[in-house]
Amino acid sequence: MSDAASMGRCTVVVGGQWGDEGKGKIVDVLAWEADIIARFQGGANAGHTVHVGEEEFIFHLIPSGILHPGKRCLMGNGVVLDPFQFFKEYDAAAARGVDPEGRVGVSLRAQLLLPYHRLLDRAREGTSPQKIGTTGRGIGPAYEDKVGRRGIRVVDLKDEARARSLLEEGLARARRRLAELGQADLEGSEECVGETLALRERLLTLATDVGLEIHRALKAGKMILMEGAQGTALDVDHGTYPYVTSSNTTAGGAAAGCGIGPTAITDILGVMKAYITRVGEGPLPTALPPDMDEKVRTLGAEFGATTGRPRRCGWFDGVLARYSARVNGLTGLAITKLDVLDTLPELSIATAYRMPEGVAEEFPADTGSLGKVEPVYEKLPGWEASTKDVRKLEDLPYHARSYLDRLQEITVTPITMVSVGTRRSQIIRVS
Ligand code: IMP
Ligand code: MG
Repeated sequence: MSDAASMGRCTVVVGGQWGDEGKGKIVDVLAWEADIIARFQGGANAGHTVHVGEEEFIFHLIPSGILHPGKRCLMGNGVVLDPFQFFKEYDAAAARGVDPEGRVGVSLRAQLLLPYHRLLDRAREGTSPQKIGTTGRGIGPAYEDKVGRRGIRVVDLKDEARARSLLEEGLARARRRLAELGQADLEGSEECVGETLALRERLLTLATDVGLEIHRALKAGKMILMEGAQGTALDVDHGTYPYVTSSNTTAGGAAAGCGIGPTAITDILGVMKAYITRVGEGPLPTALPPDMDEKVRTLGAEFGATTGRPRRCGWFDGVLARYSARVNGLTGLAITKLDVLDTLPELSIATAYRMPEGVAEEFPADTGSLGKVEPVYEKLPGWEASTKDVRKLEDLPYHARSYLDRLQEITVTPITMVSVGTRRSQIIRVS
């Protein structure tokens, strides 16, 4: 057997749509069985909401698994780590009785996201003719520095003098770019050199070789959960470019972003809402007409966890779902927020796109044409009954089961979980 064949399990959880599918809740449910929960991409653009009792927790950087005592939470090399946001979240979790001490690790190879990245992100969004509608958290500029081979990694903090000069160079470069963009106000980011160096030792005590830790844990038969952020249609390669985030949100990104071989991954769970939402710019083929959009947004409380922006709502997009199942290699599907549809008399699912060239069943690479497609809808009756207290698939209303069966057929992927509310207990597990 090869070295990659390990005894443990490694489950990757990815978003199958445009983010906000409810990955935070699904990871929270699965975290009971895991030993390590790791993030592999993105940064503080994520907003993972988890409800515990009457309390709501929103995590942007630290894996949602932190709510489970004793579990190790790691941030892989693929993450862009904002050290200020990170410690803010770390300390806030500690203040609310979640003890992160000794449980959180950050990759030595992770890139630092610094205050000037945030300024660049916002300045660019303000001036560019092609607005992406980013979260303004500095994600794009931080990944640009990474692939431009001028980024600063956690490991670079080890040598203080070198770290200082890298930070000063980074700031000077950002200042020139900001001036080009007509932005002179640095909003206090001049202090970021000193402030980052002040966090140096604290961050280094948490630094670890994430790939090695996961490898050893797998060898020891442990269970690893990899928590994706954003969703398939926001993947920098496979999403609706350029209206995407700057990382690989798809399952392939998990191996590269944590430093393990792809053969170590045993399960890939795609999370999809029973309908769809999108926040930020870019096409949403199955967008609802204004009155229905408003209705679903209210029923589903569809406002961004990071920015508070209203999310656009749409019918379940079977074309995107099938594409997601394929590019991620999904082994299972978690359908969330089924209860949001409880009161609707009739539902639609897009099964194909009508385009000028004809009817397409595959998700197009051309984002411009995606903005002009007319979805081919299949209509299904609503169940018009509450599903919130259902805990077994067989107890669901007949039409709710038919709806789920159809999603399963379209994606050719078995549904393993259905979420019917925000609480931890509001979940149906299909074995
Ligand atoms: P960025 O990741 O902040 O650069 O934003 C790029 C695009 O991804 C924008 O359309 C954002 O609204 C979207 N996006 C980023 N993070 C999330 C998320 O966690 N949920 C939903 N959309 C997101
Ligand atoms: Mg979110």
